[in-house]
Amino acid sequence: MKDLVPIFPHLLAFFNISTVVLLILGAMAIKREDVIKHKRFMLGAVGVAVLFLIVYTLYHLEVGNVAFAGEGKIRWFYFGLLIAHVIGAVFILVMVPKTLFRAMKTNFIAHKALAKKTLPLWLFVSASGFMVYIMAFHIWPSKPLSQIVKLLG
Ligand code: HEM
Repeated sequence: MKDLVPIFPHLLAFFNISTVVLLILGAMAIKREDVIKHKRFMLGAVGVAVLFLIVYTLYHLEVGNVAFAGEGKIRWFYFGLLIAHVIGAVFILVMVPKTLFRAMKTNFIAHKALAKKTLPLWLFVSASGFMVYIMAFHIWPSKPLSQIVKLLG
């Protein structure tokens, strides 16, 4: 398992971007009143979210947090985005199952009312997760905090 840890950030980014695509396809399907395709895309997004949570937990248990390497004003943007992403993710953890259960119970009026809030927030959380990854792993390649502490000590 340890050998796989270095690929986890890239896998998580792939899950984030796949979620964005599935949510957009799901939203487009329901706009065309294609309930079958809407259901398939949304269940696909929920499946990807479950995989995301498993890999995310394994990654953070193994590596801890990453110390962002960017300097200057970009840190404000990065940490602002990261905080908004984390707060949004906490809400999403409750809102997605609720939105899904309402649909599964065929309570579509209540489903639609909540889904109109869940969908944009879920899109924001997934897209901001991908942006955080691009910043911390590609533009300003950053190291895990635990590794930096080891180097210092
Ligand atoms: C958590 C996953 C889901 C999300 C985020 C979601 C999102 C949405 C959104 C945003 C709408 C409103 C579209 C509009 O503005 O008109 C909607 C409507 C609808 N959804 Fe979902 N959906 C999800 C899962 C499902 C599932 C599993 C079903 C199962 C059949 C379903 C069935 C429907 C139906 C029938 C409508 C139309 C309701 C109406 O117009 O009265 N959805 N959904």
